[in-house]
Amino acid sequence: MTDYVRREIADGIMTLTISRPDKKNALSNAMYSALSDGLELAEQDSSVGVVLFQGDGDSFTAGNDLADFSAEANDKSAGESQAARFIGNLARATVPLVAAVQGNAVGVGTTMLLHCDLVYLADNAKLITPFVNLALVPEASSSWLLPARIGHARAYAMFALGEPMDASSALACGLANAVVPLSELRTRAHGAAAALTKRPAGSLKQTKALMRETDRIVAQIARESALFRDRLQSGEAREAFAAFAEKRKPDFSKVSG
Ligand code: COA
Repeated sequence: MTDYVRREIADGIMTLTISRPDKKNALSNAMYSALSDGLELAEQDSSVGVVLFQGDGDSFTAGNDLADFSAEANDKSAGESQAARFIGNLARATVPLVAAVQGNAVGVGTTMLLHCDLVYLADNAKLITPFVNLALVPEASSSWLLPARIGHARAYAMFALGEPMDASSALACGLANAVVPLSELRTRAHGAAAALTKRPAGSLKQTKALMRETDRIVAQIARESALFRDRLQSGEAREAFAAFAEKRKPDFSKVSG
């Protein structure tokens, strides 16, 4: 368990709130585990009609905790990757997923949105997928889902150049349902979640299943994960993580792939 993820269930909505604002809601292994526990419970508990993701503080999430990545790069990580468990749960979710996103949504903060059914962005939201800057590869099937949604060129610029996408661009290219003032974000997302709880749950689940190629998504995650695990151990990735910890720019010129 972790204090950094709150789980509340009320009126058919399970709200999962990421709450580690001093670290921009970066996700540790324990936090991924708590999010996964929530998703697994939502699949089993018929009183839960929808899961709503939100984050405290000024960022939705800065993505995977880079100290955890660094530990994995140095082979000091303990046990199963809870990030992989979370991504698997997102991919297989049958319950509708709604997200309320403010500020930075980095890495999995963006890729998880590709698995959400309704996405609301505050006007200050920024979607960032800097996988190549970290010498990694995309995850959560984003290497397939993102270009399929926004086209290869835009997706490549996000992955390879780390180009952020602002809220209005994300809305324009179909990654979100609405952009709202920050002060209205939670109310808007909660209202949408509440509307879903009034719809017939069986019909919602079948509609979602028809709209997603789950087998293809899961297969792409497996392809990505094999490469991602190798990349984590690479000299390039170690340099990227060291640079972040030392608050400097990485220098990839002297490290091997
Ligand atoms: N993992 C661990 N710690 C993180 C983190 C992450 N992913 N993102 C931010 N933090 C920590 C910082 O180290 C800093 O900690 P400190 O106060 O102890 O020094 C604190 O959160 C605030 O971050 P800071 O960089 O000062 O905030 P910012 O507003 O200037 O920038 C971000 C915010 C999200 C743009 C920037 O922190 C960032 O790029 N983080 C890394 C994102 C990333 O690459 N994630 C992995 C994706 S796969």
